[in-house]
Amino acid sequence: MATVLAIETSCDETAVAIVSDRHVCSSVVTSQIPIHQQYGGVVPEVASRQHLEIINQAIAEALSQAQIPIAKIDGIAASCAPGLVGALLVGLTAAKTLAIVHQLPFLGVHHLEGHIYANCLSEPKLEPPFLSLLVSGGHTSLIYVKDCGKYETLGETRDDAAGEAFDKVARLLDLGYPGGPAIDRLAQTGNPEAFALPEGKISLPHGGFHPYDSSFSGLKTAVMRLVQQLKQNSPVVPVADIAASFQATVARSLTKRAIACATDYGLNTIAVGGGVAANSGLRQHLQAAAAERNLRVLFPPMKFCTDNAAMIGCAAAEHLNRGHTSPITLGTRSRLPL
Ligand code: KG4
Ligand code: ZN
Repeated sequence: MATVLAIETSCDETAVAIVSDRHVCSSVVTSQIPIHQQYGGVVPEVASRQHLEIINQAIAEALSQAQIPIAKIDGIAASCAPGLVGALLVGLTAAKTLAIVHQLPFLGVHHLEGHIYANCLSEPKLEPPFLSLLVSGGHTSLIYVKDCGKYETLGETRDDAAGEAFDKVARLLDLGYPGGPAIDRLAQTGNPEAFALPEGKISLPHGGFHPYDSSFSGLKTAVMRLVQQLKQNSPVVPVADIAASFQATVARSLTKRAIACATDYGLNTIAVGGGVAANSGLRQHLQAAAAERNLRVLFPPMKFCTDNAAMIGCAAAEHLNRGHTSPITLGTRSRLPL
């Protein structure tokens, strides 16, 4: 069993957690959303500086909440990629420093591996093989999880990520940042059948469509045109109906691909992860479609869908238990395949 102190600073949350294998002893997440809201999105330089301001305090708080002395920690982990390089650097450097000072193993974790392992925090018995649907601000991927560290990406977005589409459409509708939760709230009061919006499809060279890849930029443009059209007729735009129709289209598209992928590969569990896993429309659509086919769908608890360090600690513990560590010279990368 490995007890890990884990740090996550890939974007706009400064997060530190103490995790014993799949049990969360403490999880501190400080969001920078109020700071970035005034700019309408994350400003990388501001994010790095803010991480730097509070990282030491977050580490102290995580240790104190867990009531575990550092002497009882077996390893130090941090996300190393993908993400904002300057932001990642703050967490990675703090982790390396702790590892050196306390002579502990150090481990750099792929951020997406963390999102996959977030499911193990609520479902500790979950073991590969299973299908992971990763839907965040930067990724929309279907990943065949074969074993810890053995992943095959079967489907991806060809343009915008699902979370990015939520954020962009929210901006079009003047709903502010981050857009996902705002659209989700508003969609609950709207009619998902109000507008027929196009589901992005990727054509294959010899006809037909790619069964697992997705595309969201056409959908975003369709919403933009719809808003322009509606504004010509009336100054009052039915924002809730647009939000509900958009959300239902994304949920249908993701559900169709995930179900096809799980069925084709004979995987009976779909574990969802990333910020968009918090979306109520996706949860409903996917649960209903999976139930019809006797597939099991797992969603992490809301607080572990969006960025947090407990998921990084859980993935790190899995690796440490297998004797894996990273060189102390490990760097950060803005992009890195799983
Ligand atoms: O996983 P995450 O916290 O950070 C990345 O790794 O990107 O995901 C953030 C994304 C944002 O695009 C945000 O708008 C979206 O997740 N999101 C949601 C919801 N909550 C967060 N999208 C749809 N519905 C939600 N309830
Ligand atoms: Zn993330």
